[in-house]
Amino acid sequence: MNTLASPVPPVLQVDRLTKRYRSGERLLTVVDDVSFSLGPGETCSVLGPSGSGKTTLLGLCAGLDRPTSGSVLLNGQHLGGLDQDRLAELRNRSVGFVFQTFQLVPTLTALENVMVPLELRGKPSRAWAVELLGRVGLEDRAHHYPVQLSGGEQQRVGLARAFVNRPRILFADEPTGNLDADTGETVIELLLEMNRDFGTMLLVVTHDLELSGKTRRILTLRGGRITSDRVPDSLRPPGQVPEQTLSGAARDSAAIESDPA
Ligand SMILES: Nc1ncnc2c1ncn2[C@@H]1O[C@H](COP(=O)(O)OP(=O)(O)O)[C@@H](O)[C@H]1O
Ligand SMILES: [Mg+2]
Repeated sequence: MNTLASPVPPVLQVDRLTKRYRSGERLLTVVDDVSFSLGPGETCSVLGPSGSGKTTLLGLCAGLDRPTSGSVLLNGQHLGGLDQDRLAELRNRSVGFVFQTFQLVPTLTALENVMVPLELRGKPSRAWAVELLGRVGLEDRAHHYPVQLSGGEQQRVGLARAFVNRPRILFADEPTGNLDADTGETVIELLLEMNRDFGTMLLVVTHDLELSGKTRRILTLRGGRITSDRVPDSLRPPGQVPEQTLSGAARDSAAIESDPA
């Protein structure tokens, strides 16, 4: 870990995480001694071939799955010490998800899908859900069912749903994997724009170099191990932080500092 990093505590800290499955007589190591940490608002992609353990790693980080060994600290809480109810509570309060296959509830309208996480928290605000649907450009699709929406529209509903609780943490598993390039680009722009505006930490599994090139950091997995941990070429040199990579909070504080009033 970088000891010169700012004193802000990480939002996600993964330490020597390992996941093994028994396959007949053999033990299969799917995630192998993985360690990294991400601070508030940080963006990080996970690249790697199919079967390299990306989805498993995401599930472990989100507490959807338990590691064989190692630990995950998520929003200040050690996941290993939480039972299923506490894990669900932590996810509802602090975590958003975006899936490759959108995972909308087919019997609910776009608006009702966006409201699901609010209802799980007991704070249903129709006006806020409508506002978020507007942000992703779907105000006129609020009462459509998923089957009446294109893939790109469904994923935009998925984004509105993921951000509706203003999560500190967002996990996305191949969010553009089922979309054509143009539609994917719209989804990427919206994802990164909301990540900045809400100051959300983003860990995103992707094959999309367009997307990974826009995150601050890229981890590559092979056979469950991190084989590379780098800043994308498009964001170098590391000494110069391009303006668009600052989180919303960082931009706000920069604005406050330069404000003479
Ligand atoms: N529940 C499970 N039981 C056994 N093997 C699993 C299980 N889940 C995943 N695997 C295996 O772990 C490996 C990594 O899977 P996954 O994390 O889905 O990879 P990726 O998302 O990088 O394609 C694969 O070989 C997969 O077959
Ligand atoms: Mg996967």
